[in-house]
Amino acid sequence: MPHKKTLRDVQVTGRRVLVRVDFNVPIDDQGNIVDDTRIKASLPTVEYLLDAKAKVILMSHLGRPEGRDERFSLQPVAKRLSRLVGVEVKFAPDCVGDEVRRMVSSLKEGEILLLENLRFHAGETKGDESFAKELASLGDVCVIDAFGTCHRKHASMYVLPKILKPAVMGFLLEKEVTYFEKAMVSPQRPVVALLGGAKVSSKLGIIKNLLKRVDKIFIGGAMAFTFIRAMGYPVGDSPVEEDLIPTALDILEIARKLGVKLYLPVDFVVGKEVSDSTPTKVVPWQEIPEEWRGLDIGPVSIELIREILSDAQTVIWNGPMGVFELDRFKNGTFAVAKMVAESPALTIAGGGDTDHAIHRAGVYNAIDFVSTGGGAFLQLLEGNHLPCLEVLDDREEG
Ligand code: 3PG
Repeated sequence: MPHKKTLRDVQVTGRRVLVRVDFNVPIDDQGNIVDDTRIKASLPTVEYLLDAKAKVILMSHLGRPEGRDERFSLQPVAKRLSRLVGVEVKFAPDCVGDEVRRMVSSLKEGEILLLENLRFHAGETKGDESFAKELASLGDVCVIDAFGTCHRKHASMYVLPKILKPAVMGFLLEKEVTYFEKAMVSPQRPVVALLGGAKVSSKLGIIKNLLKRVDKIFIGGAMAFTFIRAMGYPVGDSPVEEDLIPTALDILEIARKLGVKLYLPVDFVVGKEVSDSTPTKVVPWQEIPEEWRGLDIGPVSIELIREILSDAQTVIWNGPMGVFELDRFKNGTFAVAKMVAESPALTIAGGGDTDHAIHRAGVYNAIDFVSTGGGAFLQLLEGNHLPCLEVLDDREEG
């Protein structure tokens, strides 16, 4: 990954700094922000710009509206951000147009303006050049800090930084990339990956990439059943991706050839159905009864993970170990969250469900780095480059 310029490399005082953030946060029906992690994650960049007396113009998407739709307005975010920075955050009723230009031109040094949802305009997701040019006319400097959207070749993310120069990384993006490189490019060994989630098909690229980079990998969640079936054991009513059974066997073989220790759960909490009121029992992995399905890893698997982690220097975690949304089946995922949090290794975690589980387990601050990205983090785990990072200005070496 080439080294990119950051906010520290550019002159911002008195200039209009257009910052693309990812304020795509969950908002309930009453307009309350349910989780403001992504807003808080933008504060180092926002506060730096305020201290430097820049004119700060923030822009983001929220949700996936089709055209203008007030349910997806960023207005509640402006209010929350105002509270967090202790400075009034002005709010523009749109992201382009005369009114926005007027608001930008009356912005003073050390003031913040948040633009309305970029996705109210179809040009954003289409990567439309004339839309990007309109955005570009609002700023003198382009800062990309929306790590969570770096896999999208959208107008504000991918086209704008090619038009408005300088175009540099904000501090959140820099932090995300730095932690990722520490864990995946030049890690302290042993490196342990804990992988969960429902489908082998959606994690196949990640498993294959991780096998080249880690020393140990634990595959839990419903994905494990495709592997267990591939080894010829019954899995009851647990979900299996039949078409991926040969792939699962290949993965076991690749791990063996590469000398990567691959672990699967050794016991499961099984139930009759996906419900908190279903009867449950704990069974060894070879003995999942007919008409029962595995809904969480069992206590012996938790101890196995503890053992796997005992000598880890670097830990990467993505994906829940069971149906953690239900109280009866959250134990495995929460135990993993706590073990990762307590590990003295460098620990990084990410992905939408994983982030949610970490918050619910109450260990968010104890993990070295929890990525703010969902899809973008998964792209990095798969070994893919993020297109929106590549278009930012290179730092001269030497
Ligand atoms: C995310 O939440 O993963 C990012 O904000 C990107 O959102 P999107 O998947 O709607 O493009």
